[in-house]
Amino acid sequence: MDFLSIADSSPDRIHDLVAMAGEVKQHPGRFAERLTGRSVGLFFMKPSTRTRVSSEVGTRQLGADPVVLKGDEVGLGGRETVEDVGRVLDRYLDALAMRVFDHRDLVSIAAVAEAPVINLLSDLEHPCQAIADLLTVTEHRPKASIAYVGDGNNVLHSLMVGATMIGGSIRIATPVGYEPDDRYIALARQYGNVEVTNDPSEAVDGADCVYTDVWTSMGREAEMAQRLDAFSGFIVDETLFAKAAPDAIFLHCLPAHRGEEVSGPVMEHARSRVFDQAENRLHAFKAVLLDVLG
Ligand code: CP
Ligand code: NVA
Repeated sequence: MDFLSIADSSPDRIHDLVAMAGEVKQHPGRFAERLTGRSVGLFFMKPSTRTRVSSEVGTRQLGADPVVLKGDEVGLGGRETVEDVGRVLDRYLDALAMRVFDHRDLVSIAAVAEAPVINLLSDLEHPCQAIADLLTVTEHRPKASIAYVGDGNNVLHSLMVGATMIGGSIRIATPVGYEPDDRYIALARQYGNVEVTNDPSEAVDGADCVYTDVWTSMGREAEMAQRLDAFSGFIVDETLFAKAAPDAIFLHCLPAHRGEEVSGPVMEHARSRVFDQAENRLHAFKAVLLDVLG
Protein backbone atom coordinates (compact mmCIF):
# COMPACT_ATOMS: atom_id res chain seq x y z
CA MET A 1 0.00 0.00 0.00
CA ASP A 2 1.28 3.49 -0.89
CA PHE A 3 1.94 6.20 1.70
CA LEU A 4 1.30 9.40 -0.24
CA SER A 5 -0.51 11.46 2.33
CA ILE A 6 -1.90 11.54 5.84
CA ALA A 7 -5.20 12.75 4.37
CA ASP A 8 -5.59 9.52 2.34
CA SER A 9 -4.74 7.31 5.32
CA SER A 10 -7.10 5.99 7.96
CA PRO A 11 -6.76 7.15 11.58
CA ASP A 12 -5.98 3.52 12.51
CA ARG A 13 -3.07 3.43 10.09
CA ILE A 14 -1.63 6.71 11.41
CA HIS A 15 -2.06 5.53 14.99
CA ASP A 16 -0.30 2.24 14.14
CA LEU A 17 2.54 4.00 12.30
CA VAL A 18 3.25 6.27 15.28
CA ALA A 19 3.12 3.28 17.64
CA MET A 20 5.40 1.27 15.34
CA ALA A 21 7.87 4.18 15.10
CA GLY A 22 8.04 4.14 18.89
CA GLU A 23 8.59 0.38 18.94
CA VAL A 24 11.32 0.56 16.30
CA LYS A 25 12.97 3.30 18.36
CA GLN A 26 12.88 1.18 21.55
CA HIS A 27 13.88 -2.13 19.95
CA PRO A 28 15.80 -1.49 16.71
CA GLY A 29 17.46 -4.93 16.79
CA ARG A 30 14.10 -6.71 16.42
CA PHE A 31 13.70 -5.32 12.91
CA ALA A 32 17.29 -5.59 11.67
CA GLU A 33 16.70 -8.37 9.11
CA ARG A 34 13.05 -7.70 8.36
CA LEU A 35 13.52 -6.43 4.77
CA THR A 36 16.61 -8.37 3.68
CA GLY A 37 16.84 -8.74 -0.09
CA ARG A 38 14.53 -5.80 -0.87
CA SER A 39 15.58 -2.73 -2.87
CA VAL A 40 14.19 0.71 -2.06
CA GLY A 41 14.44 3.71 -4.41
CA LEU A 42 14.99 7.08 -2.71
CA PHE A 43 14.33 9.79 -5.29
CA PHE A 44 14.97 13.50 -4.61
CA MET A 45 13.80 16.35 -6.84
CA LYS A 46 14.64 18.90 -4.08
CA PRO A 47 17.45 19.34 -1.54
CA SER A 48 17.30 17.29 1.67
CA THR A 49 19.41 16.48 4.71
CA ARG A 50 17.16 14.75 7.27
CA THR A 51 14.98 12.86 4.80
CA ARG A 52 17.90 11.90 2.57
CA VAL A 53 20.01 10.46 5.39
CA SER A 54 17.26 9.00 7.61
CA SER A 55 15.68 7.17 4.68
CA GLU A 56 18.98 5.70 3.46
CA VAL A 57 20.19 4.71 6.93
CA GLY A 58 16.72 3.43 7.90
CA THR A 59 16.53 1.28 4.76
CA ARG A 60 19.92 -0.29 5.55
CA GLN A 61 19.00 -0.83 9.22
CA LEU A 62 16.06 -2.97 8.08
CA GLY A 63 18.36 -5.09 5.89
CA ALA A 64 17.20 -3.60 2.54
CA ASP A 65 19.32 -1.92 -0.13
CA PRO A 66 18.74 1.79 -0.83
CA VAL A 67 19.14 3.18 -4.36
CA VAL A 68 19.43 6.97 -4.23
CA LEU A 69 18.39 8.96 -7.31
CA LYS A 70 18.62 12.72 -7.88
CA GLY A 71 16.08 14.59 -9.97
CA ASP A 72 18.65 15.91 -12.43
CA GLU A 73 19.90 12.43 -13.32
CA VAL A 74 16.42 11.04 -13.96
CA GLY A 75 14.80 14.07 -15.62
CA LEU A 76 11.30 13.23 -14.40
CA GLY A 77 8.80 14.50 -16.99
CA GLY A 78 11.59 15.97 -19.15
CA ARG A 79 13.87 13.16 -20.31
CA GLU A 80 10.83 10.89 -20.32
CA THR A 81 7.28 11.00 -19.02
CA VAL A 82 6.56 10.70 -15.33
CA GLU A 83 4.60 7.49 -15.95
CA ASP A 84 7.42 5.88 -17.95
CA VAL A 85 9.87 6.59 -15.12
CA GLY A 86 7.41 4.96 -12.71
CA ARG A 87 6.90 1.90 -14.91
CA VAL A 88 10.64 1.35 -15.32
CA LEU A 89 11.58 1.86 -11.67
CA ASP A 90 8.76 -0.49 -10.71
CA ARG A 91 10.58 -3.32 -12.53
CA TYR A 92 13.69 -2.95 -10.34
CA LEU A 93 12.51 -1.77 -6.96
CA ASP A 94 10.35 -3.15 -4.16
CA ALA A 95 9.38 0.34 -2.95
CA LEU A 96 9.88 3.85 -4.29
CA ALA A 97 10.15 6.85 -1.95
CA MET A 98 10.06 10.24 -3.67
CA ARG A 99 10.47 13.96 -2.88
CA VAL A 100 8.77 15.94 -5.64
CA PHE A 101 7.57 19.45 -6.44
CA ASP A 102 4.12 18.45 -7.65
CA HIS A 103 2.09 15.99 -5.59
CA ARG A 104 0.33 14.90 -8.80
CA ASP A 105 3.60 13.27 -9.94
CA LEU A 106 3.42 10.95 -6.93
CA VAL A 107 -0.17 10.06 -7.77
CA SER A 108 0.77 9.40 -11.42
CA ILE A 109 3.62 7.10 -10.46
CA ALA A 110 1.57 5.29 -7.83
CA ALA A 111 -1.08 4.67 -10.50
CA VAL A 112 1.34 2.79 -12.78
CA ALA A 113 3.67 1.15 -10.23
CA GLU A 114 2.84 -2.04 -8.39
CA ALA A 115 5.58 -1.25 -5.86
CA PRO A 116 4.37 0.96 -3.01
CA VAL A 117 5.19 4.66 -3.36
CA ILE A 118 6.12 6.79 -0.33
CA ASN A 119 5.90 10.59 -0.25
CA LEU A 120 9.15 12.14 1.04
CA LEU A 121 7.61 15.67 0.70
CA SER A 122 5.50 17.25 -1.98
CA ASP A 123 3.89 20.68 -2.34
CA LEU A 124 0.83 19.27 -0.55
CA GLU A 125 2.10 17.05 2.28
CA HIS A 126 5.10 15.74 4.22
CA PRO A 127 3.62 12.59 5.76
CA CYS A 128 6.85 10.91 6.94
CA GLN A 129 7.65 14.14 8.80
CA ALA A 130 4.22 14.00 10.42
CA ILE A 131 4.79 10.49 11.78
CA ALA A 132 8.03 11.71 13.39
CA ASP A 133 6.26 14.84 14.66
CA LEU A 134 3.45 12.82 16.21
CA LEU A 135 5.93 10.45 17.84
CA THR A 136 7.73 13.47 19.34
CA VAL A 137 4.47 15.04 20.48
CA THR A 138 3.19 11.84 22.10
CA GLU A 139 6.56 11.28 23.81
CA HIS A 140 5.81 14.59 25.54
CA ARG A 141 2.08 14.17 26.07
CA PRO A 142 -0.59 11.89 24.58
CA LYS A 143 -3.46 13.82 23.00
CA ALA A 144 -1.51 17.09 23.12
CA SER A 145 -2.73 20.51 22.08
CA ILE A 146 -0.46 21.85 19.33
CA ALA A 147 -0.05 25.49 18.33
CA TYR A 148 1.29 25.93 14.80
CA VAL A 149 2.52 29.43 13.95
CA GLY A 150 3.57 30.32 10.41
CA ASP A 151 2.88 29.18 6.87
CA GLY A 152 -0.13 26.99 6.04
CA ASN A 153 2.08 24.60 4.08
CA ASN A 154 2.77 20.92 3.33
CA VAL A 155 4.16 20.23 6.80
CA LEU A 156 1.11 21.74 8.48
CA HIS A 157 -1.30 19.83 6.22
CA SER A 158 0.11 16.47 7.28
CA LEU A 159 0.50 17.53 10.92
CA MET A 160 -3.01 18.91 11.39
CA VAL A 161 -4.77 15.86 10.00
CA GLY A 162 -2.43 13.42 11.77
CA ALA A 163 -2.66 15.19 15.13
CA THR A 164 -6.44 15.19 15.14
CA MET A 165 -6.55 11.57 13.91
CA ILE A 166 -4.66 10.45 17.02
CA GLY A 167 -6.80 12.43 19.43
CA GLY A 168 -4.94 15.74 19.65
CA SER A 169 -6.06 19.25 18.81
CA ILE A 170 -4.43 22.09 16.87
CA ARG A 171 -4.64 25.88 16.82
CA ILE A 172 -3.12 27.45 13.74
CA ALA A 173 -1.98 31.07 13.32
CA THR A 174 -0.99 32.25 9.85
CA PRO A 175 -0.93 35.66 8.20
CA VAL A 176 -4.06 36.46 6.18
CA GLY A 177 -3.82 34.65 2.84
CA TYR A 178 -1.39 31.97 4.09
CA GLU A 179 -3.93 29.70 5.79
CA PRO A 180 -3.84 25.94 5.12
CA ASP A 181 -5.93 24.54 2.30
CA ASP A 182 -9.65 24.49 3.17
CA ARG A 183 -9.84 20.78 2.32
CA TYR A 184 -7.29 20.03 5.06
CA ILE A 185 -9.13 22.19 7.58
CA ALA A 186 -12.40 20.39 6.80
CA LEU A 187 -10.77 16.96 6.96
CA ALA A 188 -8.92 17.61 10.23
CA ARG A 189 -12.17 18.91 11.76
CA GLN A 190 -13.79 15.53 11.07
CA TYR A 191 -11.34 14.06 13.59
CA GLY A 192 -10.79 16.73 16.22
CA ASN A 193 -10.66 20.34 17.26
CA VAL A 194 -9.02 22.74 14.78
CA GLU A 195 -8.95 26.51 15.21
CA VAL A 196 -7.54 28.86 12.61
CA THR A 197 -6.63 32.43 13.49
CA ASN A 198 -4.35 35.22 12.31
CA ASP A 199 -3.16 35.94 15.85
CA PRO A 200 -0.07 33.97 17.04
CA SER A 201 -0.72 34.72 20.74
CA GLU A 202 -4.23 33.32 20.51
CA ALA A 203 -2.91 30.11 18.94
CA VAL A 204 -0.07 29.61 21.44
CA ASP A 205 -2.05 30.40 24.61
CA GLY A 206 -1.67 27.40 26.97
CA ALA A 207 -0.58 24.96 24.21
CA ASP A 208 1.41 21.78 25.00
CA CYS A 209 3.57 22.08 21.86
CA VAL A 210 4.52 25.08 19.73
CA TYR A 211 5.46 24.23 16.15
CA THR A 212 6.74 26.33 13.28
CA ASP A 213 8.31 25.83 9.84
CA VAL A 214 10.05 28.06 7.31
CA TRP A 215 8.05 30.90 5.81
CA THR A 216 9.22 30.11 2.27
CA SER A 217 9.10 26.45 1.28
CA MET A 218 11.30 24.92 -1.41
CA GLY A 219 9.99 25.85 -4.84
CA ARG A 220 8.53 29.19 -3.66
CA GLU A 221 11.80 31.12 -3.50
CA ALA A 222 10.47 33.80 -5.89
CA GLU A 223 7.97 34.81 -3.17
CA MET A 224 10.60 35.18 -0.44
CA ALA A 225 10.66 39.00 -0.15
CA GLN A 226 6.87 39.23 -0.14
CA ARG A 227 6.65 36.46 2.47
CA LEU A 228 9.24 38.05 4.78
CA ASP A 229 7.00 41.08 4.82
CA ALA A 230 3.72 39.16 5.26
CA PHE A 231 5.08 37.00 8.11
CA SER A 232 6.51 39.84 10.16
CA GLY A 233 5.13 39.38 13.70
CA PHE A 234 4.92 35.59 13.34
CA ILE A 235 8.36 34.75 14.77
CA VAL A 236 8.29 32.21 17.61
CA ASP A 237 10.44 34.08 20.13
CA GLU A 238 10.74 33.78 23.90
CA THR A 239 7.83 36.17 24.50
CA LEU A 240 5.48 34.13 22.32
CA PHE A 241 6.77 30.75 23.58
CA ALA A 242 6.19 31.91 27.18
CA LYS A 243 2.44 32.09 26.43
CA ALA A 244 2.32 28.30 25.96
CA ALA A 245 1.89 25.83 28.85
CA PRO A 246 4.68 26.08 31.45
CA ASP A 247 6.12 22.71 30.31
CA ALA A 248 5.41 23.24 26.59
CA ILE A 249 7.92 21.94 24.05
CA PHE A 250 9.09 23.66 20.87
CA LEU A 251 9.09 21.76 17.57
CA HIS A 252 10.35 22.57 14.07
CA CYS A 253 10.75 20.11 11.19
CA LEU A 254 14.03 21.85 10.23
CA PRO A 255 15.90 23.36 8.47
CA ALA A 256 15.32 26.44 10.67
CA HIS A 257 16.04 30.06 9.85
CA ARG A 258 16.96 31.71 13.15
CA GLY A 259 15.71 35.29 13.24
CA GLU A 260 12.88 34.55 10.78
CA GLU A 261 10.27 31.99 11.91
CA VAL A 262 12.09 31.20 15.20
CA SER A 263 14.49 33.07 17.45
CA GLY A 264 17.89 31.60 18.35
CA PRO A 265 17.00 31.36 22.08
CA VAL A 266 13.83 29.36 21.34
CA MET A 267 15.78 26.95 19.09
CA GLU A 268 18.26 26.47 21.96
CA HIS A 269 15.61 26.53 24.71
CA ALA A 270 15.72 23.79 27.37
CA ARG A 271 12.28 22.74 26.12
CA SER A 272 13.19 22.74 22.42
CA ARG A 273 12.85 19.16 21.10
CA VAL A 274 13.87 19.85 17.51
CA PHE A 275 16.81 17.44 17.44
CA ASP A 276 14.82 14.63 19.10
CA GLN A 277 12.22 15.32 16.42
CA ALA A 278 14.91 15.08 13.71
CA GLU A 279 16.10 11.77 15.20
CA ASN A 280 12.53 10.51 15.11
CA ARG A 281 12.55 10.89 11.32
CA LEU A 282 14.73 7.75 11.25
CA HIS A 283 12.37 5.67 13.41
CA ALA A 284 9.34 7.01 11.55
CA PHE A 285 10.75 6.16 8.12
CA LYS A 286 11.53 2.62 9.25
CA ALA A 287 7.95 2.25 10.49
CA VAL A 288 6.60 3.49 7.15
CA LEU A 289 8.84 1.14 5.16
CA LEU A 290 7.85 -1.83 7.32
CA ASP A 291 4.22 -0.86 6.81
CA VAL A 292 4.32 -0.55 3.00
CA LEU A 293 6.48 -3.66 2.54
CA GLY A 294 4.85 -5.60 5.37
N1 CP B 1 12.54 18.08 7.68
C1 CP B 1 13.03 17.69 6.49
O1 CP B 1 12.34 17.07 5.68
O2 CP B 1 14.33 18.04 6.29
P1 CP B 1 15.11 17.86 4.92
O3 CP B 1 14.48 18.79 3.92
O4 CP B 1 16.53 18.23 5.24
O5 CP B 1 14.98 16.44 4.47
N1 NVA C 1 7.84 23.38 4.21
C1 NVA C 1 9.23 23.09 3.93
C2 NVA C 1 9.65 21.85 4.65
C3 NVA C 1 11.07 21.44 4.48
C4 NVA C 1 11.41 20.18 5.20
C5 NVA C 1 9.43 22.93 2.43
O1 NVA C 1 8.55 22.37 1.77
O2 NVA C 1 10.44 23.38 1.93
